[in-house]
Amino acid sequence: MAPMGRDVFYITTPIYYPNDVPHVGHAYDAVAADVIARHHRLRGEEVFHLTGTDEHGLKLQRAAEAAGMDPQRWVDEMEPRWREVWARLDIGYDDYIRTTEPRHQDVVVKVLDQVHENGRDDIYLDSYEGLYCVSCELYYVEGDLLEGQVCPIHERPVELMKEQNYFFRLSAYADRLLEHYERTPSAVEPDIRRNEVLSLIRGGLRDFSISRTNFDWGIPLPWDPDHVTYVWFDALTNYLTAAGFGADEKTFARRWPASIHMIGKDILRQHAIYWPAMLMAAGIEPPAQVWAHGFLTVGGKKMSKTNATGIHPFELIDRFGVDSYRWYFLREIQFGQDGSFSLESMVDRHNAELSNGIGNLASRVLAMLRSYFDGVLPEPTFPGAESDLPEVIATAVRRYDEEMLAVRPTAALAAVYDVVVRANRYMVERSPWTLAKDPARRDELGSILYASAETLRSLAILLSSIMPSAAGRMWEQLGIEETLEAQRLDHAAAWGRMSPGARTTKGESLFPRVDTAE
Ligand code: MSP
Repeated sequence: MAPMGRDVFYITTPIYYPNDVPHVGHAYDAVAADVIARHHRLRGEEVFHLTGTDEHGLKLQRAAEAAGMDPQRWVDEMEPRWREVWARLDIGYDDYIRTTEPRHQDVVVKVLDQVHENGRDDIYLDSYEGLYCVSCELYYVEGDLLEGQVCPIHERPVELMKEQNYFFRLSAYADRLLEHYERTPSAVEPDIRRNEVLSLIRGGLRDFSISRTNFDWGIPLPWDPDHVTYVWFDALTNYLTAAGFGADEKTFARRWPASIHMIGKDILRQHAIYWPAMLMAAGIEPPAQVWAHGFLTVGGKKMSKTNATGIHPFELIDRFGVDSYRWYFLREIQFGQDGSFSLESMVDRHNAELSNGIGNLASRVLAMLRSYFDGVLPEPTFPGAESDLPEVIATAVRRYDEEMLAVRPTAALAAVYDVVVRANRYMVERSPWTLAKDPARRDELGSILYASAETLRSLAILLSSIMPSAAGRMWEQLGIEETLEAQRLDHAAAWGRMSPGARTTKGESLFPRVDTAE
């Protein structure tokens, strides 16, 4: 079961660094979180889905300097380039936060003050010299680096930095963190990430600096404005800001703790160690769950701009369409593990599962309805014509729901696809095109097409979380009076909701084939 926050299913993506435009790796968690959010909406829950941009810090300041702009202008120009990608990917977020917004700065100051004044001396001044990766915005200890003092994630040299900083007493929270994860193991998923977090905590936690003085692109500390807030302290706090912390306590109480922080495994330590400890220090409940997925890889390495493997999502959307894009990444790569992306596998899946599998099923059924019944949905009068389809669908809906709730989208998609396979087999078994030649079997023909249309109806509902645009077109072609948005998961499991007499249309193909040679 997915853990619930309060009254609202509150799911977040990381907030992205707008030092550059997005690549397909960034869109991976954005799509996954959107699919999960839409699923919870389909179950009738109130959902709050948050995304945004992480606009402060040294990395941003340097990107702006390199472009000869001041950082504010830089982020103002870059941020829309992220939103335009989310719009084309059908990401239906409820709120978009930018850490440069005044609403956020106020909350960072409030949280800093709360920790600073908690009476336990959790924030103290000290000087520090260490090896810093600007891409991670993280200090490293020598032993965690690759040869030649290179960051293991970005494979770039770290920099020696020496500063007088304010520190957060993370080391004081080890026991409470262990207790938290022992009491609520589902607070970090999957297992492999929980084990990683537990061993990091058991290995000993070092205090981390929460302020910087060697640059100024950040939120000044309320008690010492010569320091700006460390970008991770600033960024993590976005989850509170958007929930209404400090501004609208009633809303905050309904949204917090967050149900799921969806993240990539590279930012696990910050989310599963720093963040809950910061919240404990501020007297706020930790999030219900941190879910850390794996990397999209190219040639065995994390897809990234740094190693020039970062493809812009538009390159794939232009060729495959948004629905195929959303389907491919969740279906091809076991969610939680690393997985390699290749154009060949995307072409194969598109043609096999979407064009031939789902698209062909829909177009065959709608074409037969048009040819044999003028597009008007017939009455199902022939007993047993639906075969085992109602049970198959009811079972698939149950499985789909369980898998989505457990944040196993790959398994959830498999459950839907089983229905497609079964329905295509049903077509072959019943061979309506043969029955159509025999006027005496018209009742049977009509009932088979009714059952096929019913199957498409359920599929459209299930697919509405994964591929909202294609599901919407499918729904329209079925000529159902109610809107797709008004449907709930139980409607997908129920049999016989379509009204005979409805006008179906054989529209354009849902997933035109993609040419391999292209
Ligand atoms: N700004 C921080 C997050 C702050 S959240 C309070 C950050 N930003 S990021 O833009 O570098 O990364 C955002 C997300 O993209 C991370 O979850 C990261 O794992 C994900 N991805 C970036 N490249 C990726 C792949 N190649 N594969 C899958 N996801 C990866 O970190």
